[in-house]
Amino acid sequence: MDDLNGKTALVTGAGSGIGRGIALALAREGANVALADIEEGTAAAAAREVEALEVRALAAQLDVTDEAAQRALAERVEAEFGALHIICLNAGVLSAEPVSEATEADWQWTFGVNLFGVVRGVRACLPALRRQAPDAHILITASVAGLRPNEAVPIGVYSASKHAVLAYAEVLHDELATQGIGVSALCPGGVRTQIGVAGRNRPDDYGGPNDDLAFGQAGSGLSSGMDPEEAGRIAVRGIKAGRRLVLTHPETREQVEARYARIMDDYDFLQAASAGAPQ
Ligand SMILES: NC(=O)c1ccc[n+]([C@@H]2O[C@H](COP(=O)([O-])OP(=O)(O)OC[C@H]3O[C@@H](n4cnc5c(N)ncnc54)[C@H](O)[C@@H]3O)[C@@H](O)[C@H]2O)c1
Repeated sequence: MDDLNGKTALVTGAGSGIGRGIALALAREGANVALADIEEGTAAAAAREVEALEVRALAAQLDVTDEAAQRALAERVEAEFGALHIICLNAGVLSAEPVSEATEADWQWTFGVNLFGVVRGVRACLPALRRQAPDAHILITASVAGLRPNEAVPIGVYSASKHAVLAYAEVLHDELATQGIGVSALCPGGVRTQIGVAGRNRPDDYGGPNDDLAFGQAGSGLSSGMDPEEAGRIAVRGIKAGRRLVLTHPETREQVEARYARIMDDYDFLQAASAGAPQ
């Protein structure tokens, strides 16, 4: 979809960081944007920034784990803007502990937002997107943490959720290609956002709010990461080009190559072992 002018987009997790960056980049292309976030105030503030770019904006409070709420929002966006062409399922959270010590609540909360929030968003919005195909696109924010585990920081639960959502996005890409709906997975490296204190939005059912995670802004390297508005611009370029994966950080290439080299080493072992095995 190379012309976004006059199109309508919905962005989740749009009150902060990469979501806000994507919303602003879409608006700069002339798209009208619905901005949804579990934090109502930040979504409203970002919507005002979008409106200042002379497109229409709508702010909504949304918990992406609630599929009925996602469906209601998709219907509201279609009713108010007349169509829904692009969804950017970007809301995500990070918990930080060794996988061997992560609790059931850590796993449920992280997968509930990072995987099931996306799956439910797609289910909720597909009817509206199908009405616009082939002018329809889904951007799913995964992570480079979905392309390789990172042993340097204790984010294994997060990494597992991003591997899951990336596999989902790639399969969805192939399934929807024949229906004229594009699917891209955004895989950023470090971006300067609030993800290090994602526990601020952790519901009581999953242990309650906590903004002093061990993996905070200071220790994460995120404070020196990419500008989230730049990440948003790269994401929108990927939508326009219809990329399967939208990569943002060239320096992560070697880490991904090293991960696949380890896998190939195990294939080499299999081949050598099979060659030497008794018949
Ligand atoms: N920052 C990075 O370095 C980085 C790298 C790779 C991928 N990502 C991914 O980018 C996405 C955006 O994160 P960010 O880094 O901009 O962090 P952020 O915390 O600045 O923004 C995330 C937004 O999602 C919202 N949110 C959290 N839970 C929600 C829920 N249940 N329903 C709706 N909204 C919810 C938050 O309120 C926040 O506004 C996430 O999926 C994250 O995993 C971030």
